Amino acid sequence: MDALLTKENLEWKERARDVGERVVRPRAYKYDRLQEYPWDIKEALVDAGLFGVWIPEEYGGKGAGILNMCIVVEQLSRCCGGVGVLFVVNALATFPVIVAGTEDQKKKYLPGVAAGKDLCAFGLSEKGAGSDASGLTCSAQKDGDHYILNGEKKWNTNGGVSNLYSIFAVTDPTSKSRRISTFMVEKDTPGFRIGKIEDKMGIRCVPVVELEFENCRIPAENLLGGKPGLGFKNAMQTLDHARPGVAAQALGLAQGALELATRYAMQRKQFGVSISSFQMIQKMLADMSIKVEAARQLVYTAARALDAGETNVTKIAATAKCFATDTAMEVCTDAVQIFGGYGYMRDYPIEKYMRDSKILQIYEGTNQVQRLVVARNLLKEAEQYAHLDDYIPLKPEHMATD
Ligand code: CAA
Repeated sequence: MDALLTKENLEWKERARDVGERVVRPRAYKYDRLQEYPWDIKEALVDAGLFGVWIPEEYGGKGAGILNMCIVVEQLSRCCGGVGVLFVVNALATFPVIVAGTEDQKKKYLPGVAAGKDLCAFGLSEKGAGSDASGLTCSAQKDGDHYILNGEKKWNTNGGVSNLYSIFAVTDPTSKSRRISTFMVEKDTPGFRIGKIEDKMGIRCVPVVELEFENCRIPAENLLGGKPGLGFKNAMQTLDHARPGVAAQALGLAQGALELATRYAMQRKQFGVSISSFQMIQKMLADMSIKVEAARQLVYTAARALDAGETNVTKIAATAKCFATDTAMEVCTDAVQIFGGYGYMRDYPIEKYMRDSKILQIYEGTNQVQRLVVARNLLKEAEQYAHLDDYIPLKPEHMATD
């Protein structure tokens, strides 16, 4: 439904689609096999001016907002889900600065990312703290005008290639609601090192690593917002901003898989005709298309809500993330089914879409957590229709027929 997009949206779409088809798609399978960061692709994204689409103009970005960011991610992910996250993980990791940084911190950290010079990673999860994000134990102890970080981070996407890390650590173990703070940590800080590098099922062109902090001294001015104790709220607000981006990655993968499956169904002949003439295949393609379009509308709505400055975006962001990522898994699995035995083989393009999709139901909050977030918000909203209690059960006057 391009008709609902503005001229600016269409320009971002075209720009990302061009670099996706010209540079990303032809190289995606090489980097998937090698499990290597595609520096040439990253440079092409920088040259196309895509980095910084989400960063405000006053900090060197394009000021184009979350919807345009999602449109870019969708187009890149149509060609490679790994490149989609390679790009949008920089948004996840800079949102803590955008949401909670001081003016000086925004000026210090954002322009380099907007220019594609700096890469960024987000360090919230730990071995023992995944869904239970507030249970993290990595600590930051104040020591004069420094903080000393000790502990580990797990599942750090973009770790190792990044030079900036937004890190969540405990500053007040005695507090319940103000336990955690957010810090910016630079790559070469003594006491900070990259640990285990994961060998992954999908999104193989982006590194996922463990981070290790051992008496790592960072200046107190790297504490985001300048005040301790705001880290958990900062993490939650960051995820509200970032989840539409994961949803857009899912949307792009689903759209890309649908396009490949449709072309394959037209090409593949059985019983003397192309399999796209069979109603069972047509039903599968139609259901895939319906789900993709529904996901697109949810992703764009969540992104538009953020761009409009809506404050209560938690539920729509979680809804979009959950629906779009479940859609990606279903659509990519059905696409493999349409390719049949060939779809299961690595010399065909489609199995990668299925592998790249799976992680989307897990990271940036499992889809179980998204449903928990939606349900909590739904129960809060139910106050608005308390008058319905008068109808549960129906009273005699409601059932009177005279
Ligand atoms: N915005 C602002 N504040 C929020 C908020 C939001 N969206 N959600 C919660 N808060 C506030 C609450 O108001 C509450 O504040 P008070 O203490 O002042 O009352 C506080 O935060 C605690 O909230 P909850 O009681 O809801 O917290 P909880 O412990 O029950 O946890 C949770 C809620 C939703 C399960 C949360 O822990 C969560 O989102 N977990 C998933 C974490 C996650 O998504 N991790 C992904 C890591 S990133 C990643 O995957 C990166 C990658 O590789 C690409």
